[in-house]
Amino acid sequence: MKQKTQAIREEIEQRLAAGECATSKELIELKMEYLGKGGKISALSKGMRDVPAEERPEAGRLLGELRAWAEEQFDAREKELKRRELAAKVAGERIDVTMPAKFHAGGSVHPVTLVRRELEEIFSGMGFNIFEGPEIERDYYNFQALNIPADHPARDMQDTFFVGGEYLLRSQTSSGQIRVMEKQAPPIKVLSPGRVYRSDSDATHSPMFHQMEGLVVDKGITLCDLKGILDEFARRMFTAETKTRFRPSYFPFTEPSVEVDLSCKNCGGKGCRICKGTGWIEVLGAGMVNRRVLENCGIDPDVYTGFAFGIGLERIAMIKYGIGDIRLLFENDVRFLRQFKD
Ligand code: DAH
Repeated sequence: MKQKTQAIREEIEQRLAAGECATSKELIELKMEYLGKGGKISALSKGMRDVPAEERPEAGRLLGELRAWAEEQFDAREKELKRRELAAKVAGERIDVTMPAKFHAGGSVHPVTLVRRELEEIFSGMGFNIFEGPEIERDYYNFQALNIPADHPARDMQDTFFVGGEYLLRSQTSSGQIRVMEKQAPPIKVLSPGRVYRSDSDATHSPMFHQMEGLVVDKGITLCDLKGILDEFARRMFTAETKTRFRPSYFPFTEPSVEVDLSCKNCGGKGCRICKGTGWIEVLGAGMVNRRVLENCGIDPDVYTGFAFGIGLERIAMIKYGIGDIRLLFENDVRFLRQFKD
């Protein structure tokens, strides 16, 4: 037994010295070869059966010593390997803080996004919640429930992209009004921003543009509340001197309906090129929610009244930043976009 344990000892010493296991994985394999269940040292233990009884205590002691020694050897090597591996990993991940940084082109926020955020801030400050409806919309929400039946001439006001069947690309965020009123009982105070689509394209019209719908429904809401809220919006969005003007208009979903103008900030109302000499710039449509629209959503128009308005975000951005052509907003020319900062 003495010779056998000595031979194994030497064998392990040689193999470790020869650097046979350069990684922890190889070391584990080597360890298993000796100390594993079917390993060489375990095989010696099994051979104890054949050792004469008087020699057994001594053989057992030798075997125990060998096992303890081997474990020590492997453990020491394992620690050493782990230390080396960690050192190599740390060296590999070292960061040279003196290296020049990668170039990142600083982005800027799109002017329409800037306007949308500003509007959301102004109106949420007045207690409005935000609701976002789908862009692919059913005819019912975009038209019918808004008091625009299939054969209604008011459909001509919005050149609509029909997707197929009862589906279309929403032509106005007014569809959000219906979706909100269907789900929620008054009091309602909601803002519905989003993309809308119309088959229309020139310097002031884009086939895709953005609107922000506002809706307030409660007991005793009047046109004065609408005027008050829009006055506040105009002053906050533009200047404290900005005035609003209501002109009678027509929308099937409001009665009465108004077109809302703001005093021209460029000339202060005196008349200039931007306001075409009138002193006023048209910015949005609004009105008192038509009784039929309330009824379509299960709200009793004898108990509740409401107002709604629809703002074109591109239009506000063009007025605010003095942009003459709507197409500039969608060409993604960085020289243009870079001028707008948060
Ligand atoms: N949806 C209208 C449009 O796109 C704008 C509008 C007008 C919205 C009057 C309203 C409203 O909520 O009351 O032309």
